[in-house]
Amino acid sequence: MGTDTKSYQIGVIRGDGIGPEIIAEALKVLDKAAKIYGFTLQYTELCLGGSSIDRYGVPLTEETIEKAKQCDAVLMGSIGGDPKTSPWYQLEPSKRPEAGLLGIRKALGLFANLRFSKLYDDLMDSCPLKESIAREGIDFVILRELTGGLYFGAHKTWTKDGEDMASDELLYSDHEIRRIAVKAFDAAMLRGKKMTLVDKANVLDSSRLWRKVVQDVAKDYPEVEVDYMYVDNASMQLVRRPSQFDVVLTENMFGDILSDEASMVTGSIGMQPSASLAEGSFGLYEPSHGSAPDIAGKDLANPLATILSAAMMLRYSLGQEEAALAIEKAVEEVLKTYRTADLVSDRDDVEQVGCSKMGTLVADALG
Ligand code: IPM
Ligand code: MG
Repeated sequence: MGTDTKSYQIGVIRGDGIGPEIIAEALKVLDKAAKIYGFTLQYTELCLGGSSIDRYGVPLTEETIEKAKQCDAVLMGSIGGDPKTSPWYQLEPSKRPEAGLLGIRKALGLFANLRFSKLYDDLMDSCPLKESIAREGIDFVILRELTGGLYFGAHKTWTKDGEDMASDELLYSDHEIRRIAVKAFDAAMLRGKKMTLVDKANVLDSSRLWRKVVQDVAKDYPEVEVDYMYVDNASMQLVRRPSQFDVVLTENMFGDILSDEASMVTGSIGMQPSASLAEGSFGLYEPSHGSAPDIAGKDLANPLATILSAAMMLRYSLGQEEAALAIEKAVEEVLKTYRTADLVSDRDDVEQVGCSKMGTLVADALG
């Protein structure tokens, strides 16, 4: 092996439900890319979510956090189970699988979550929007703030005069907004130079602070066209004319909701990769979708969001742009002929394949 062969340590969270299946396919593709592009990947298995509850009694351990910090990046499948049937949901909320996910985001400082929505030409028939809208093109990224806001403010439940009460605090500081605004403007500079801040500034103080800080950061990016949009309007515009968006910046809860909507307009949530970035090059990469326990172990899951998340890991954390692009191209190529069950099609020239076959097809298309 040449001395200049780069070697990276990757934390792997297989997770629950379909997690292990989709991760296996992403690793298949990553290993092939590493071979072709001449770098080495070493994997550290990390436990999170339901599988961590089963093993350690808690959804996130100190050991997982410490091991993750030693890695260059983390690739994750999905976590959680069926709330109606899984014993994990008999536990109090702070001990459930999702608490592990929120905990690792916070512990690793993953404040910027990028979720990409791109409608591939070959998936035009899977897009639920009218063809005239889809044809205008859909290619945008949502930057969702991931370690603040309602998710991490004080949560309280109490009783007053015999009546149950509950509250969740939506709190943001200038620096929390500024650091993700900078990432959003940087992203816009590399894309279509358009940034839309989505907020509820007609009602919320926190949104008014977001606007103030974003207006300030915007002064450093005179080339970027900035637009401000209320979240209710944004949710409507996403289906009315998604082609108007390039970079969408928003707080944690709005981003959670809008990114699910945004994934569907491109055909399936099974296609949406995501990157959660910390300061510097470290990041955690995972599909936006959940663990789909109903189809777990049936070889039905779509591994493409995870494979595309792995491509992002190569791009943002490992600096392997060429390999990242090759994976994205391979996915596009494979979609010309093959689909998983979620990407329903009335075309008779496409073939339905399972999760494992899809991963193999992408790896093979790499060359
Ligand atoms: C997501 C998920 C999580 C979130 C849940 C599982 C806690 O919906 O990553 O979007 O709300 O952030
Ligand atoms: Mg969500």
